[in-house]
Amino acid sequence: MVYLKSEILRIGEEALRELKELDKQEALQELKVKVLGKKGSLTALLRQMGGLSAEERPIMGQVVNDMRSRLEQAWEERSVELEALALQKRLATERIDITLPGIRAARGHHHPLTQIIEEIEDIFLGMGFQIAEGPEIETDYYNFEALNLPKEHPAREMQDSFYITEEILLRTQTSPVQIRTMEKLHPTLPVKIIAPGKVYRNDDDATHSPMFHQVEGLVVDHGIRMSDLKGILLNFSRQMFGESREIRLRPSFFPFTEPSAEVDVSCMLCGGAGCRLCKGTGWIEVLGSGMVHPKVLEMGGYNPKEVTGFAFGMGVERIAMLKFGIEDMRLLFDNDLRFLQQF
Ligand code: DAH
Repeated sequence: MVYLKSEILRIGEEALRELKELDKQEALQELKVKVLGKKGSLTALLRQMGGLSAEERPIMGQVVNDMRSRLEQAWEERSVELEALALQKRLATERIDITLPGIRAARGHHHPLTQIIEEIEDIFLGMGFQIAEGPEIETDYYNFEALNLPKEHPAREMQDSFYITEEILLRTQTSPVQIRTMEKLHPTLPVKIIAPGKVYRNDDDATHSPMFHQVEGLVVDHGIRMSDLKGILLNFSRQMFGESREIRLRPSFFPFTEPSAEVDVSCMLCGGAGCRLCKGTGWIEVLGSGMVHPKVLEMGGYNPKEVTGFAFGMGVERIAMLKFGIEDMRLLFDNDLRFLQQF
């Protein structure tokens, strides 16, 4: 028993001395295994306790446990010490340059068509208009009939339509929002709205897409005249295409306006002298417009003997193509980032 006890103390003290010299966490761990591990030197001594008498065993057990806890505490202390030393060393040698620029997060931006729609909205909001919306799945009544386009009207052929049933279709124009808005607002005056949104027609080539966007405009009040239409659209054209733009109204036909006019803007590329963009004419067709047809006012719940109005409708893709110099409309819908990132 005396021999066992002195061996335990010898191995323990030696480990304690060795441990103080170690300067790496891994070496500390290694030593722990060498002494206390399954095949460790102290563990081997413990096995020999089997040969002791019943009185001797608890006394020797106490000696082993004391040594084990001294060792464990010493290990813990040295481990903390080493950690602190390592940190100090890093703090002394590592330098973080906080003036280095950070990593910029990749940021997207609005699609060119959204940019144009927002620009149009801003211009009209600035002139006191409000923004209205309507459904893209529309009834024949709102898309055609209430706009003075009865079932057999030949002008329906101008808008090759996607029908869902005989009475329901994808709207071919934003003009039905005129009727929906008047139904909602009458007899309140003035009505002064624009209605941006998607429309659908069975068309597909470099300048037509089966889905495209329009912005509708409608103003109804006492004494609205064609000169009001012209003033608003001149102001819009100059904000959209440049201060020196002029506009010209050409007689046209739409079933929901009388009289109707096609609105041209002086060419934004050549200023009116004539170039490739305006095909030498100096003018570019930008939108359709006119004085709201009395029947349409009536359909909306207003009395055409008391109020008058004007309306207009423009294609957003066409305006985007003009402003950004895009020649093929389909590029706007391909979602090719190399294209979109340019705007
Ligand atoms: N809805 C017409 C179209 O899609 C455009 C239009 C023309 C709208 C004249 C109007 C208007 O409000 O007055 O071709």
